[in-house]
Amino acid sequence: MPDEIDALREQIDAETIESEDDAEAFRIKYLGRNQGAITELFDQISDLPPEDRPEFGKRVNALKSFAQERLDEAKARLQREEQSGGPDIDLTLPGRRNFRGSTHPLTQTMEEILRILRGLGFSTYEGPEIETDWHNFTALNFPPDHPARDMQDTFFLQDETDTSSRDAPSGDTPTVLRTHTSPGQIRIMQEDPPPIRVAVPGRVYRNEAISYKSYCLFHQVELLYVDENVTMAQLKQALYSLARALFGEDVTLRFRPSYFPFTEPSAEVDVWWEDEESDDGGQWMEILGCGMVHPNVFDSVGVDSEQYTGYAVGMGVERMAMLRHGIDDIRIFYENDVRFLDQF
Ligand code: DAH
Repeated sequence: MPDEIDALREQIDAETIESEDDAEAFRIKYLGRNQGAITELFDQISDLPPEDRPEFGKRVNALKSFAQERLDEAKARLQREEQSGGPDIDLTLPGRRNFRGSTHPLTQTMEEILRILRGLGFSTYEGPEIETDWHNFTALNFPPDHPARDMQDTFFLQDETDTSSRDAPSGDTPTVLRTHTSPGQIRIMQEDPPPIRVAVPGRVYRNEAISYKSYCLFHQVELLYVDENVTMAQLKQALYSLARALFGEDVTLRFRPSYFPFTEPSAEVDVWWEDEESDDGGQWMEILGCGMVHPNVFDSVGVDSEQYTGYAVGMGVERMAMLRHGIDDIRIFYENDVRFLDQF
């Protein structure tokens, strides 16, 4: 039958000693000369019938040793902790890995593109994401109410029938989310005279149905090079340098004639992408649009189109990142799934 001695042993067993003060309180409570719980048990011996005394004395002695051991252990542990400057730790245990964030794959690709372009002499400029209709369309030679504006599904911030900001370069009413980074060309030419050699990275927005290949926002990098005697040959050379650095020395490009209001002539550029599963061993993937800056664009910002020529390029960053990493659905960039992000 559990008695007072057993109860006391359980109580001692449950005590925690985390400081010198705890240790001293423990000593006084159980082992103190005055009214210590174990000391008082010894005092009871004289009240017992003589035949019970030896057994009782033995058990109380054992309890006293138990309490003393507990106290000694705790003191030794506290001393170790003080010396090592922290809690009792096992230095041989394997470390716990901290979760480290990583740069988003789009940011990585964007930074890589800009790094290569810096080597080709392009500085970086960032324009606003909320644009005026004039910068986004008119100054880029999109005729008012011309279907060319429909090439890009625009998010309007203002009533579409209000066309007041279309024809005023100073009419700074922001009315659209930029549909491309090309308005950056206009802003740079408004700010600085040629020669200009600049890259404009950033987000662009389109009111398109969301699918594996299009999203309501994506990223572009625009290039603009304006000087005397800039040629299409220089444009091709710059694009080859960029593509080789990005996709490898033996990359194959294809230039296709195309149409953009702000360039003449215009081209779209495809990269040959090997794919064992396809019948032809690969396929052409469009990566950018480009061309020679249209004289009307120069006129809209007061650059003399007799003296200067220039080339412009607009490339899709998502497309580049998808090619580089073999990703087949654009939406995954925007889902913030750590299992995806963790791989970069
Ligand atoms: N702004 C065009 C688009 O988003 C892409 C583009 C094509 C940009 C040709 C250019 C260019 O600078 O020369 O569809």
